Amino acid sequence: MTVAQELDQLLAEALAALAQARSAAELEQLRVRFLGRKSRLAEVMKTLPALPAEERAAVGKRGNQLKAALEARLAAARETLAADTAREPLDVTLPGAAIPQGWLHPVTQTIEAVLSLFIPMGFEVVEGPELELERYNFDALNIPRDHPSRESFDTFFVEASSPEPKKGRLLLRSHTSPVQVRVMERRKPPLRIVVPGVVYRPDPLDPSHSFMFHQVEGLMVDDRTSFADLKGALDLFLKTLFGPRTKTRFRPHFFPFTEPSAEVDIACASCGGRGCPTCGKKGWLEIMGCGMVHPNVFKAVGYDPRAVQGFAFGLGVERIAMLRHGITDIRLFFENDLRFLEQC
Ligand code: DAH
Repeated sequence: MTVAQELDQLLAEALAALAQARSAAELEQLRVRFLGRKSRLAEVMKTLPALPAEERAAVGKRGNQLKAALEARLAAARETLAADTAREPLDVTLPGAAIPQGWLHPVTQTIEAVLSLFIPMGFEVVEGPELELERYNFDALNIPRDHPSRESFDTFFVEASSPEPKKGRLLLRSHTSPVQVRVMERRKPPLRIVVPGVVYRPDPLDPSHSFMFHQVEGLMVDDRTSFADLKGALDLFLKTLFGPRTKTRFRPHFFPFTEPSAEVDIACASCGGRGCPTCGKKGWLEIMGCGMVHPNVFKAVGYDPRAVQGFAFGLGVERIAMLRHGITDIRLFFENDLRFLEQC
């Protein structure tokens, strides 16, 4: 057997032995045996200078190849072994890993709570566009152009001028009331609808203002709905939402689309009406706006104001969510910090 053949045989032997090795110690023994100072390879390499020139080059090359191949194989075997020992034996008594569960955002929860109280009273849930026309957001709601009452509904306009003056400019709706008009335009009374949705106003962000928030609008129209029905429905709604002992108060107010109009307050739950920081020492918390639908709104949708009557209301969802959860900063709803959301 030539030296080269012997080296080939050595490589085959070493690879076979490596394939059987099961521990780091065994791998080390094999390294010493095949690559160590006293290995056959080391011996052969030592004899190189004494070999004839042609043979020296061939044997040297074979020797180096053997060394490189074995070192690479040893390194791979060590890695596999390390990965295997890192893998813990299976402990079947360990509890399963918890799968994180999602839940509804507090704003969505509040919208659902509000809707679920009106649905049993026969109200149907309807939605409308967030990108709205001036006609629906203002004109048809008895808010004339250049009338000062428009200022209380500061608005993001999307168009500077409109191709159709009758419909007005496109805007981001500043309240959900335009959906009243859209529904009445399409349908005949009797109607009972509740409208959840997002609204936009160019308000600077602070603890009680956001340029985007949610409202729920309500509308009931037939030939006999009265202010007493309005009071009854809203009083029942607020007592169901905030607790059966909740006191409500209807305070005269002005909205262009209702006449008469009112704001509804509930007695502050934190102080029982005596006055505290939550209610700004007033003892009452303003909850929603409401009133009897203005005859001009009926006219705008083609209803005969002498034949129909109805009530409408609108409430801010975040405000109700803040009261229900004791939250003092509206911005928390939109920062999506899970540490906050997990508590709701
Ligand atoms: N649209 C009013 C607002 O955004 C809220 C409102 C008040 C709605 C009275 C109504 C209503 O339908 O009758 O402030």
